[in-house]
Amino acid sequence: MSNRYAVILAAGQGTRMKSKLYKVLHPVCGKPMVQHVVEEIAKLKVQEVVTIIGHGAEKVKAQLGEQSHYALQEEQLGTAHAVMQAQNTLEGKEGITIVVCGDTPLIKAETMEALFTHHEKHSAKATILTAKIDNPTGYGRIIRNEKGLVEKIVEHKDATEAERAINEINTGTYCFDNAALFAALKNVSNDNVQGEYYLPDVIEILKSQGEIVSAFQTNDIQETLGVNDRVALAEAERIMRSRINEKHMRNGVTIKDPANTYIESDVIIGQDTVVLPATIIKGATVIGSECQIGPNTEIDTCKVGNETIIRQSAAYNSSIGSYVNIGPFAHIRPASDIKDEVKIGNFVEIKKAVFGKGSKASHLSYIGDAEVGNDVNIGCGSITVNYDGKNKFLTKIEDNVFIGCNSNLVAPVTVGEGAYVAAGSTITQDVPGKALSIARAKQVNKENYVEKLNMKNKQ
Ligand code: UD1
Ligand code: CA
Repeated sequence: MSNRYAVILAAGQGTRMKSKLYKVLHPVCGKPMVQHVVEEIAKLKVQEVVTIIGHGAEKVKAQLGEQSHYALQEEQLGTAHAVMQAQNTLEGKEGITIVVCGDTPLIKAETMEALFTHHEKHSAKATILTAKIDNPTGYGRIIRNEKGLVEKIVEHKDATEAERAINEINTGTYCFDNAALFAALKNVSNDNVQGEYYLPDVIEILKSQGEIVSAFQTNDIQETLGVNDRVALAEAERIMRSRINEKHMRNGVTIKDPANTYIESDVIIGQDTVVLPATIIKGATVIGSECQIGPNTEIDTCKVGNETIIRQSAAYNSSIGSYVNIGPFAHIRPASDIKDEVKIGNFVEIKKAVFGKGSKASHLSYIGDAEVGNDVNIGCGSITVNYDGKNKFLTKIEDNVFIGCNSNLVAPVTVGEGAYVAAGSTITQDVPGKALSIARAKQVNKENYVEKLNMKNKQ
């Protein structure tokens, strides 16, 4: 097998996106477009990957890190000029170079592999990945001669009416003989409507030198979508989403309504978990098996065990155990560690708290900056008072504690193992283990008070 190299074009601003964010950094299913491309290329056996950066160079670099080498294109003079910037790294090397646009996030490794194979089989100097699509507006068109062989690519803006009627397009992915590529690039001019150095012009140059130029047409037209504006971005998102959902379903996850379920690319879900409609699962979330997630639930970067139910709730950057029951309408905020067999009921907010095995907060609670032991019962309406307006303090609730309804635990405070806190208490001092703490005004009943009041009013 020949040496393989890859060049990813990612220097453009992406004017048509009308965005502060550089085009290739726009996320599709939670991951920047260019990241999708780099990850697919990583599946191929490529010796060197060079990403051409320009607009937002530092941000693109920060995103891709060590996965790529970089070449800076200071002025965006066109795609041929962009590839030229890889000269220092690649010129003089023997092998095949694949060029991919950073704005084609749906391209798959297997298609690029097939492109390499086709290129090698035909001993071509250049092979274009093409597709036939219904609406080719905006794409470069593949011009073939009477024998059906590729002659050149004409950009939409430069094309005649007859050329615009052609629906075979340049997907923006190509394989080149590396030496032939860099030699031909030197001959590309910017004599066209946009005044840019077009990479597709390399095709005509090689052809005119009598070299073999080939085309590999893919049937998966979805893969070839180039994202230039937000309409195409939404389309890419829709396609990627259905790919992700399909992968999970094939792995044994039930998704009730895939069109209404939003799972980002890196999420892992175990078998026999059921995902109900209007559910969003993001980041590096890992969900175990036999869980029920949703409806109307958002989970971002959480680890969830097995057989856990999370309904109509939101959970972020937290760990949630097995056999846990959360919701409806619960809010698990970052740095929470919810152990097995916990119940978090409606209108309960947990923040930066360990919540021990078998413990319950079934209704209307706020537990923040807390360490809750095992088998604790937190009564309806009870809260940790963790903040004095300046600093946050810790509440410790040891194993087997029972917190009566509507209690305030003013931190820093510890409720010792097995203690009881009477309903309506405001606890400002530590409670010893096994004690009953009552911290509320004593009840006074004034007998016949209403009668006395009426008498007074008559006078
Ligand atoms: C390009 C192709 C077109 C093809 C389409 C497929 C050219 C001239 N046209 O058009 O034939 O059908 O892709 O999606 O190549 N870039 C740079 N530096 C530059 C210019 C662009 O790095 O100076 C990068 C952009 O960031 C982008 C990619 O190259 O990732 C493609 O550029 P774009 O302007 O989107 O080209 P298209 O008009 O879509
Ligand atoms: Ca494009």
